Amino acid sequence: MATSALARRGEGTSLSTIDFSGRPDSQTFRSVFSQLPSGVTVITTVAPSGSPRGMTASAVCSLSLDPLLLLVCIDNRSGTLATLLDCGRFAVNILRDRHGEVAEAFTGPGPRFAGLAHSYADGLPVLDDALAWLSCRVHAAHPEGDHTIVVGAVTATGRSHGEPLVWHAGSYRSLAPSALLSHQAISRRRSGSCSK
Ligand SMILES: Cc1cc2nc3c(=O)[nH]c(=O)nc-3n(C[C@H](O)[C@H](O)[C@H](O)COP(=O)(O)O)c2cc1C
Repeated sequence: MATSALARRGEGTSLSTIDFSGRPDSQTFRSVFSQLPSGVTVITTVAPSGSPRGMTASAVCSLSLDPLLLLVCIDNRSGTLATLLDCGRFAVNILRDRHGEVAEAFTGPGPRFAGLAHSYADGLPVLDDALAWLSCRVHAAHPEGDHTIVVGAVTATGRSHGEPLVWHAGSYRSLAPSALLSHQAISRRRSGSCSK
């Protein structure tokens, strides 16, 4: 069905308020993508002085199982990007639900690691309270538009238990327990192997 017809039907929450005509601009693109929830990470690396450096990033994705690769998309203006490429190594710290302020600290102008417990794992700064982390060697860097896709070859990982921080529509959220759906239970039900 054409988007204009869908918009007339007002399907979804606010389709009728979205202008589908004309070429989407960066603001529309951001607004549309804000509907896709993501986890929140802090990308860390080491400056030539030896001090830790880091930034908040949600554009992080697993890429390959053999070899183990992940990717992170970083704005070309980011100081962390330059440091990370220079260092050749970085870590992805997956934040937990109570880490909204940590995410804000790593995107703002103030000191980022001040008062935040961190240790060195596999030679990289890792947040002590991270839900999970992966350390990487820079495998490739592909400039695309105003960002660079950094591909990391995973060299070490760690994880603890808890719930992740979620970024959605410009706000930090946590997962609602009532929304839990088991992937395995749904697949079993769909394949008819479960009588319930
Ligand atoms: C929730 C959230 C997610 C973000 N995700 C990204 C991202 O994936 N890539 C990116 O380049 N910037 C992202 N940013 C913005 C950077 O954190 C911000 O530009 C930061 O100041 C960059 O620091 P730097 O210039 O010191 O490297 C995000 C910010 C927030 C609050």
